[in-house]
Amino acid sequence: MKIIYTDSYYQMSRVAANLISAQVIMKPNCVLGLATGSTPIGTYTQLIRWYEKGDLDFSQVTTINLDEYKGLSPENDQSYRYFMNTHFFNSINIRPEQTHVPDGLEPDSVKACHDYNKIISDCGGIDLQLLGLGLNGHIGFNEPGSAFEKETHCIDLTESTIRANSRFFASMDLVPKQAYTMGIKTIMQAKKIVVIVNGAEKAQIVRDAFFGPITPKVPASVLQLHNDVTLVGDKEALSLVPEVE
Ligand code: F6R
Repeated sequence: MKIIYTDSYYQMSRVAANLISAQVIMKPNCVLGLATGSTPIGTYTQLIRWYEKGDLDFSQVTTINLDEYKGLSPENDQSYRYFMNTHFFNSINIRPEQTHVPDGLEPDSVKACHDYNKIISDCGGIDLQLLGLGLNGHIGFNEPGSAFEKETHCIDLTESTIRANSRFFASMDLVPKQAYTMGIKTIMQAKKIVVIVNGAEKAQIVRDAFFGPITPKVPASVLQLHNDVTLVGDKEALSLVPEVE
């Protein structure tokens, strides 16, 4: 694993955007795996700036998002489709039909997951997967205890994630209790993985995930087994990374 230390959220975002830009420049028709949440917003903002300057072209890029709440429509401002459109897709020249997010409105979980797995395999797999890290070590919505060998599946969110996500909803009752998520098996099949982390509250889980035992109790710990992971963080989030002797 490669670790890139940065001084701030802004610098972390610039480095992550650089890694994504390099991928898009080297392979204009690449498949990018994308995440939502607070962490990647700065990365998307930076990519939009470079696109506006004429330095990046997304016209041939395909994107596959990690997850979506079950039951939320693309127009719901708390859905991950809405998030991606407003924070990224609407501001670049990507073709909307080449952007993929699980279908939150598909009530049949088996069908929703099967359809999403087919989209991923039809694209030929993911070239670069961008990941944030949950406070309990989740990646996508693969919560502690998730089997490492799963593809897209429907999950029940843990209390801790429901609580963390409730900051985006008017009340706790409105936070969806289930989601469709890309599985760990699919994430691990991405050719490259870029994990972004910022803030002191992530320091302990960064240490547990990347320097602790590999266990389903800390889903992100499986990333230690991937051969091309880059961890990009600000100094607070990387403050507990053990020093190399
Ligand atoms: C979202 C996702 C989640 C987040 C994680 C961290 O698509 O996959 O695993 O990456 O919950 O969220 P933030 O960035 O808000 O700390």
